Amino acid sequence: MKVTVVNHPLVQHKLSLLREADVSTNKFRILTEELARLLAYEATRDLETEEITIEGWCGPVKVRQIKGKKLTVVPILRAGLGMLNGVLDLVPSAKISVVGLARNHETLQPEPYFEKFVGRLDERIALIIDPMLATGGSLAATIDMLKRNGCKQIKAIVMVAAPEGVKLVNEQHPDVEIVAAALDSHLNELGYIIPGLGDAGDKIFGTK
Ligand code: PRP
Ligand code: URA
Repeated sequence: MKVTVVNHPLVQHKLSLLREADVSTNKFRILTEELARLLAYEATRDLETEEITIEGWCGPVKVRQIKGKKLTVVPILRAGLGMLNGVLDLVPSAKISVVGLARNHETLQPEPYFEKFVGRLDERIALIIDPMLATGGSLAATIDMLKRNGCKQIKAIVMVAAPEGVKLVNEQHPDVEIVAAALDSHLNELGYIIPGLGDAGDKIFGTK
């Protein structure tokens, strides 16, 4: 199964705090942002760099800078918004594309309600962010939308992934790497990840 699980101690510690049943909205929000920052650091590890020469304090100096393709960060509404500021801390000039999907509670199918992509998607690397990868329907639909709009290089950052979701995305989009803080056990009969975090959107927004 193609998924990179980030085993860094800070990632695992923060994830453990997120799993507590009585975590407050404020704490969940803060931890989500912190975790997103750490996961984004890992997800951007293989960005291509190039050597250039700049004028340093003691004369010309060879340095490395990120080459070519620019990023677009793609939060999946709503819950993906909770990760956005953490990712932007690391890539502050990235442009933001937004996809709105709501999972139908009966069918578990994602229902699209919004999309707004930045220009020149064919020249950008898309970093999709969403705390939960459950059946994989929402992530696969977002990748479909990005590809339809010309995007060729896509990565996804999630906090918790279920094997069912990873399998579906791997089958439909084998070119997309998934970076996660955890690969959990399975989905329950309602499509929730076990042990998971519960409903991440509700916890971030304080609904329900
Ligand atoms: C959640 C989550 C993902 C999706 C994952 O969002 O944030 O987007 O479900 O499930 P899947 O892998 O089975 O598609 P939800 O649709 O509940 O909306 P919300 O973010 O507005 O809470
Ligand atoms: N969406 C969530 O927020 N949590 C799950 O466990 C599954 C989908």
